[in-house]
Amino acid sequence: MNIKALIIFFLALGVAACESQTQDQGRAISTLSGTAVLRSHNPQQLALGESVYKQHCVECHGQHGEGDPNWRQRDVDGMYPPPPLNGTGHAWHHSKQWLKQMILDGSEPGKGKMPAWGGRLSEAEADAVIDWFQSLWPDRVYAAWVENQQRNRGLR
Ligand code: HEC
Repeated sequence: MNIKALIIFFLALGVAACESQTQDQGRAISTLSGTAVLRSHNPQQLALGESVYKQHCVECHGQHGEGDPNWRQRDVDGMYPPPPLNGTGHAWHHSKQWLKQMILDGSEPGKGKMPAWGGRLSEAEADAVIDWFQSLWPDRVYAAWVENQQRNRGLR
């Protein structure tokens, strides 16, 4: 093999390695109690979630999921403004089922102003948008969410 062929061979090897990295479905992080947790990373799923978010959620929850600055205070109707979804709010207290139900069914009637998206969004789109905003959460918030899920068996 001449030197040129050898260089091409190693370049090709490098490209193959990069490709397998982008297809990698996750990154291991550790919870406070030391359990290893995989943060999944599926580029197609995140792209779908981001497009759902940009189309339907941005106007209330903000460009980067930051929520309304006054999300902790009830408005004049006694209801809470849109909270952050980027990991600085309390979305991490809730199970995946709870979050999905909130997205598809909206707030309990008369108790909040989150619209119901069922009928307009598929379950797969709801899952994708959750995955997308969860991808914004810092590792420690995501790890706390996983531990919470394990403790409560995702019932809330
Ligand atoms: C018209 C404004 C509005 C739009 C649009 C909207 N939301 Fe909301 N959302 C709210 C409000 C207000 C709340 C708080 C509801 C409550 O307290 O009952 C909320 C709450 C939530 C919660 C619960 C968060 C928590 O920490 O309790 C999630 C999750 C959520 N929204 C996701 C979404 C997603 C995903 C979309 C887009 C598909 C979306 N929202 C679009 C206003 C909106």
